[in-house]
Amino acid sequence: MIDTTCRIADVVFKNPVVMASGTFGFGREYARYYDLNKLGGLSGKGLTLHPKEGNLGLRVWETASGMLNSVGLENPGIRRFLSKEVPYWQQLDTVRIVNLGGHSIAEYEEGAQLLEQFSLSGKAAGQKAYDMIELNISCPNVKEGGMAYGIHVETAREVVMRVRRATTLPLVVKLSPNARDLVGMAVMCEEEGADGLSLVNTFSAMKIDIHKRSSVFENLYAGLSGPAIKPIALRMVHEVCKAVSIPVMGMGGISSAEDMIEFIMAGAETVQIGTHNFVNLRAGEELTAGLEAFMRREGIQSLTEIRGIL
Ligand SMILES: Cc1cc2nc3c(=O)[nH]c(=O)nc-3n(C[C@H](O)[C@H](O)[C@H](O)COP(=O)(O)O)c2cc1C
Repeated sequence: MIDTTCRIADVVFKNPVVMASGTFGFGREYARYYDLNKLGGLSGKGLTLHPKEGNLGLRVWETASGMLNSVGLENPGIRRFLSKEVPYWQQLDTVRIVNLGGHSIAEYEEGAQLLEQFSLSGKAAGQKAYDMIELNISCPNVKEGGMAYGIHVETAREVVMRVRRATTLPLVVKLSPNARDLVGMAVMCEEEGADGLSLVNTFSAMKIDIHKRSSVFENLYAGLSGPAIKPIALRMVHEVCKAVSIPVMGMGGISSAEDMIEFIMAGAETVQIGTHNFVNLRAGEELTAGLEAFMRREGIQSLTEIRGIL
């Protein structure tokens, strides 16, 4: 019997395949294509305390081997998520991760408090609403705040510390590849009590319309994701895994079972699949099956045999 289970804090994933925030909505749309309970987990669209409309103008641009996005954290706000999406999440048997964004430290803190209160009242009623928080200090497409928190260690420390104090839920901090000192950032998160890390978010990038002589995006820069970033993301995950002892959810351009194996060999506990969901609506199901097939072919009984071997 092959063992694909993974663990972050006290949360057990049946397999390492987690759908990445912002590429999977809250899951409903993909549930038409396969049984989401086959997944290790899913991270919902990034939420802010109040609803947010997102950026104006063009929001996505396809590149040679990936995509640029400038969505700007459009989301229904935490309260609407709690009333409309959580009842759906409660029917799922997979790890459910709330991705928390914000525009100020106070907003991050208040958001975490709200999630904590709701989670506690759900637990008291015998129903778990979600399993962990993924704290996004790394969105590159939001003008005010957003990436500013994910770039400098000391600003990020304040956010992580305040959110850590505000919640007893397992906390994973999502790091930006645009951080000035990625390893320093990871070490800081561990010091501040994070239960895990996820990386990477999108890379700050650009596309110019040479006829209009302007950026195609209102915010000038956008976030690059997809196969183009995979080798760099893999190196970053490897570096961070060497520097911390908390588990890492690795991502960036994963589109096959072999890609997932690379991230696990680099030290990742679980992986996340983002842009590939737009290429293949059944990616989650197929990658989960592909991972097990690979393990069977290679005679691997458990992921611990190959994790972090480099
Ligand atoms: C359209 C789009 C929206 C995204 N929205 C979020 C978000 O709300 N919160 C977040 O933490 N990451 C967000 N991300 C980043 C992804 O979760 C992931 O970190 C990134 O795309 C790299 O993985 P990939 O190359 O597999 O897509 C978004 C990515 C895309 C493409």
